[in-house]
Amino acid sequence: MKGIILAGGTGSRLLPLTKMMNKHLIPIGKFPMIYYGIERLKEAGITELFIVIGSKSVPLYVDFIGSGQSLGVHVSFLIQEGAGGIAQALSLVEPFLAPNERFVVLLGDNLFHDSLKPYLQQFENQGDGEALVLLKKVKDAHRYGVPVLDEQEPERIIKIEEKPRKPKSSFCVTGIYMYDTAVFEHIRHISPSARGELEITDVNNAYASKGLLQYNILNGWWTDAGTYESLHAARIKLGRRGKR
Ligand code: DAU
Repeated sequence: MKGIILAGGTGSRLLPLTKMMNKHLIPIGKFPMIYYGIERLKEAGITELFIVIGSKSVPLYVDFIGSGQSLGVHVSFLIQEGAGGIAQALSLVEPFLAPNERFVVLLGDNLFHDSLKPYLQQFENQGDGEALVLLKKVKDAHRYGVPVLDEQEPERIIKIEEKPRKPKSSFCVTGIYMYDTAVFEHIRHISPSARGELEITDVNNAYASKGLLQYNILNGWWTDAGTYESLHAARIKLGRRGKR
């Protein structure tokens, strides 16, 4: 299975640091943020990676990652011009995948402890054209995509509300997604949101409305590192040893 890390976007919540470099290159302990997603994919046996980056800091990415060889993976970089949204960044990978191929997608600012192996196994057991997202219980669900769950259908998500004022559960949808190439057809059918982006939540809701969106819950530590507060939390957790 291939792995895709989405590391485009503007990183506006981490200004002024992101004036100088792309968010995913900000150091956390011994490594830049992007390293931790690569490491989680490698640990799960996924070594064929696509990393979508913006046009900022390209030489720094190449300096650190190169072909991926020194990290034990093979990396191809794709450039997302502008910040048209997570789903737009994902669509750039379509030409490089075989029909019906399955893959895992990580948002580059999501840092987590769990191995992906059991979740990949669950996804392998799902039918073609289905998707799997991973959830985490959080105290500030309103900052994220929040799933509406159905107790009658314990594994399926009814819908996801993006950054709701009154979250209907205390879970957030993390930036860990598993799809096959059917996702690109869903992306073609969504429109830009009020913030002008193709939203991954709209894509996931297309699956949910057809009963095709399964979930599982991360057991271990998880954070996104997209704000100074969460970046600080990530540094405390990962920075001490420079690795997990
Ligand atoms: O962290 C989990 C959350 O990520 C989910 O709960 C939300 O449902 C999902 O929409 C997303 O929310 P954010 O508002 O935090 O997404 P953000 O714009 O910060 O982008 C997250 C990552 O996606 C970022 O690290 C890089 C990538 N990205 C983002 C955009 C907008 C791209 O590669 N290209 C883009 O154009």
